[in-house]
Amino acid sequence: MSDRGPAPKPWIEAIHAYVPGAAKSVDGRELVKLSANENPLGCSLGALAALSAPRDPARYPDPDARDLREGIGALHGIDPARIVCGTGSGELLQCAVQAYAGQGDEVLFSRYSFSLYPLLAHKVGAVPVAAPDRNLGASADSLLGAVTDRTRVVLLDNPNNPVGSWLPRSEVERLHAGLRSDILLIVDQAYAEYLSDGVDDGGFELAARSANVLVTRTFSKAYGLAAERVGWATGAPAVIDMLNRLRGPFNVSSGGQAAALAALADQDFVSRSRQENRRERDRFAEAVEALGNHGLRAVPSEANFLLTVFEGELSAEAARDGLAGGGYAVRHLPGQGLGQALRITIGTREQMDDIAAILRRSAEALSGN
Ligand SMILES: Cc1ncc(COP(=O)(O)O)c(C=O)c1O
Repeated sequence: MSDRGPAPKPWIEAIHAYVPGAAKSVDGRELVKLSANENPLGCSLGALAALSAPRDPARYPDPDARDLREGIGALHGIDPARIVCGTGSGELLQCAVQAYAGQGDEVLFSRYSFSLYPLLAHKVGAVPVAAPDRNLGASADSLLGAVTDRTRVVLLDNPNNPVGSWLPRSEVERLHAGLRSDILLIVDQAYAEYLSDGVDDGGFELAARSANVLVTRTFSKAYGLAAERVGWATGAPAVIDMLNRLRGPFNVSSGGQAAALAALADQDFVSRSRQENRRERDRFAEAVEALGNHGLRAVPSEANFLLTVFEGELSAEAARDGLAGGGYAVRHLPGQGLGQALRITIGTREQMDDIAAILRRSAEALSGN
C-alpha cells in the first residue's frame, strides 16, 4: 500500500501560500508593523463599542448581512440587492475569479498589482497574465493590448497596491469600453477611501450600468477593521448572484457585521484617517526626496503607503534591515520584481519621523557623510 497520500491538483500544487506582511524581525522581536497597510489610528470608537456589545456566540450570524448591506447601500446610493458582503474583499475577489475563469483561461492585471491576483488565477487553473506597467502604474492601453481570446477577468486595483498609483475615471471608462462584454472587469477599490474628497474612478457608476463590472471595497483599511474580515462588492445582479452562490454561507461574523455597520456611521473617523494619512504621507515623501542625493525616491501614492525606491549605495535590503533594527517591519517585494523598493505603510507622525531618520542615518553611514 502506498503512503503517498492524496495527490493535489497540479495547478493547486503550483501555488505558494499568500505571503502576509511581517510583524516580527528575523530573530523573533516584535516590530511596529508597517507592512500590511493597516490603519495607525485603529478604528472608530463606535465600531469598538459594537464589537464589545454582548451577543450570543452560539448563534450563526445573519447569512445575508442584511443590515450591513442596507447601511452600505444608504451611504453609497446603491441598491442593497446589488451588494454582497465577504470575509474581507479577498473572499469576493476569489469568488469572482472562480465564477468567470477556469482551466486555460487568462486573468489579466497590471505588472505591479496586489500579490494575491496571480494566486487567484492559479487557484482555478487559469493563467495569470501581467500587462506591462507605465511608470510602475497600470495603463488602460497596456491592459487592452494584453487582452486575448482567452481573457476572462481583468483585475484593476485602484489605487494600486504596491505602487499607490491611480487611474482616473476617464481611463477606467476607456479600459471598460475597450473590453469585450464577456470579460469581467473587477475594480478593486480597497484604498478608495484614501482618495481626496470627491475624487473617484467612477467604478460604482460603471458597476451600476454594466453587466460586466464588479467593484470591491473593504473595511480593512481606512475603516481600521482588518481583524474582523469584512469586505463587500457591487455589480450587476447576475454577477452578485454568482458571488452569493460561491461565498461561504455565514461568511461574515456577527461581530464583524456589527462593527462594520457602526463604522459606516462614523464618517468623521474615515475623514480623519484620510487627512492624517495624506499629511503624513506628504511629509514622509518629502523626507525621502530630501535623500535623493543618496539615490532614494518616493513614488507618488494615492493610498496609505509609500513605495520608496533605493537606487544609490543604500539598497532596499539594507534599508529594510536597518528599519527592523530600529523596530519597524516594512514590505520588501523582490518576488514581485520590486527588489529595489520598500512599501512602507504610513504610520503615526512619530513613527514616520523615526523611519525617515533611520533611513537618513543608514544612507549617510554608507556614503561617509
Ligand atoms: C489591493 C487590495 N485589494 C484587496 C485587499 C484585501 O483586503 P481584505 O481581504 O482585508 O478586504 C488588499 C489587502 O491588502 C489589497 O491591498
